Amino acid sequence: MKLVISIYRSSNLEYNNHMHKANGYEENAATFINNRARADNTTGTSSVRHWAKTLPADATVLDVGCGPGLPITNVLVDEGLNVYALDASPSLVQAFKQNFPHVPIACEALEDSSFFSRQFDAILAWGLLFLLPEEIQEVAIRKMADALQMGGKLLFTAPAQKARWEDVITLQESVSLGSEKYKELLTAVGLTVIEEFEDEGENHYYSAVKTTKNLA
Ligand SMILES: C[S@@+](CC[C@H](N)C(=O)[O-])C[C@H]1O[C@@H](n2cnc3c(N)ncnc32)[C@H](O)[C@@H]1O
Repeated sequence: MKLVISIYRSSNLEYNNHMHKANGYEENAATFINNRARADNTTGTSSVRHWAKTLPADATVLDVGCGPGLPITNVLVDEGLNVYALDASPSLVQAFKQNFPHVPIACEALEDSSFFSRQFDAILAWGLLFLLPEEIQEVAIRKMADALQMGGKLLFTAPAQKARWEDVITLQESVSLGSEKYKELLTAVGLTVIEEFEDEGENHYYSAVKTTKNLA
């Protein structure tokens, strides 16, 4: 009896932890899949494809906060890259596994993840960073920089303006630290911003390359 209770408690705790760590996306996974994985929702795909084409043909790429993998991870797979994925929502990870049974995926929060205990030639974080609390965004940038090979590339989206707003899917607060702060944080961990641009959906991108070993 004791054993049953402790198993129930621990799985319940684990579930609550995932709900918390996915910043509202676990509770709203079905809504998000219906919206994002629709065939006509291609926002960001041409920008990600353009970036993917700048990578070596055999590059190993991590998609952080991949969601169901449609449409963004699909671009990386379609470009023939060696793709790994990570997401904190168990329901979205399950959907991803159905869409991409052969792509390794970890159901972990970025801030806790060991990133498959390996390094990557490139890391993508589409629509994720600004969902995280401010201090976790700093941790995230450092962790992604550490997981990149020298010369490796990082691409992430976050508004250029410093701002707070309500996420349309989760109704939780999102936070953009703004372009100046993101560039400061990237520089501090050995990344050089090579380009900032916007896509057809007015999503702002930071494209950076690892130029220095992070000694911090
Ligand atoms: C706006 S969605 C973007 C999904 C996907 N990149 C796309 O473009 O369709 C944000 C994703 O980040 C995931 N997420 C939220 N917090 C996370 C965290 N702390 N670590 C990893 N993934 C997280 C959510 O579960 C969700 O799949």
